[in-house]
Amino acid sequence: MEQLAAKLENYKKEILGFTPQNAEDVEAFRIKYLGTKGLVKNLMGEMKQVPAEQKRAAGQLLNEFKLLVEERFQSFALLSNTASATIGNTDWSLPGNSLPIGTLHPLSVVRHQIITIFQRLGFAVAEGPEIEDDWHNFGAMNLPEDHPARDMQDTFYIHQNPAWLLRTHTSSVQARVMEQQKPPIRVICPGRVYRNETISARAHCFFHQVEGLYVDENVSFADLKQTLYYFVQEMFGKDTKVRFRPSYFPFTEPSAEMDISCLICGGKGCTVCKHTGWVEILGSGMVHPKVLENFQIDPNKYTGFAFGMGIERICQLKYRVNDLRLYSQNDVRFLQQFTAAL
Ligand code: DAH
Repeated sequence: MEQLAAKLENYKKEILGFTPQNAEDVEAFRIKYLGTKGLVKNLMGEMKQVPAEQKRAAGQLLNEFKLLVEERFQSFALLSNTASATIGNTDWSLPGNSLPIGTLHPLSVVRHQIITIFQRLGFAVAEGPEIEDDWHNFGAMNLPEDHPARDMQDTFYIHQNPAWLLRTHTSSVQARVMEQQKPPIRVICPGRVYRNETISARAHCFFHQVEGLYVDENVSFADLKQTLYYFVQEMFGKDTKVRFRPSYFPFTEPSAEMDISCLICGGKGCTVCKHTGWVEILGSGMVHPKVLENFQIDPNKYTGFAFGMGIERICQLKYRVNDLRLYSQNDVRFLQQFTAAL
């Protein structure tokens, strides 16, 4: 019994330490241990020499050993079916490691929040192409070819066809919508835009905007102000102040830029608000009559307002992101900070 037990211990060590490298190794293992002239058969034969009173215990030991060998062989055999797979000391039938679940990008989180707020006011979501033609991006928006305001936005043109460009603003979607739809129109248009800017903490060659367009009878500047005021309160909280400053955009008349009280310093003055206590978050105005006429909408009957805001800017104020490059570097240490945001 003792001799047998000691022998089996040695074989066990041998078997557990064995790592086949290929299908031939597995077959060699089978022949050596489980073949008709293999070790297990031999040991069974040796049972004859075991005294009768120890036969039971010895049989049990041998059986355990046989099971171990068979189990090992089966896991090797499973592996050798996958041809050249490296065969290690691994049970391949175990479930795999689950992959960690990703998180929403902060810009997606904020875009979603903006959409939800405007949807409550009855705005529908509209989208347009990122590769645009001159007409939808500029012409229809009242920027004729020689208009100096085109220089405000450095445009990427498509090499193969200079009639195409990467849209410089989501205002192009206003054109796409008015081409398809007649008033009443109430849409917001989220999307990516491109400008030929040198990449830095404060500028990037692509970023994201949300455009708004509301055209109907009797739409007034008061509607514009109240809509945007509601948005700010919902987005940034009830204590946030707003102010409108007269501005100029070719597609609106009159035009205004909207500032909110700086959330970073609470209005006391910091680098984000350039020590003014206010930060600009969007451009807006009453849709220019010429823009309406471009889509056969009668400006004597209909009026409208429009606005455009940068999602990165909103995100910066909400989550204090101070470098635009972080949004596209996809560093998981940055991205993982927004898991609880939605
Ligand atoms: N398109 C402008 C920009 O990219 C933003 C803008 C200003 C959009 C005024 C509008 C608007 O709809 O009315 O800078």
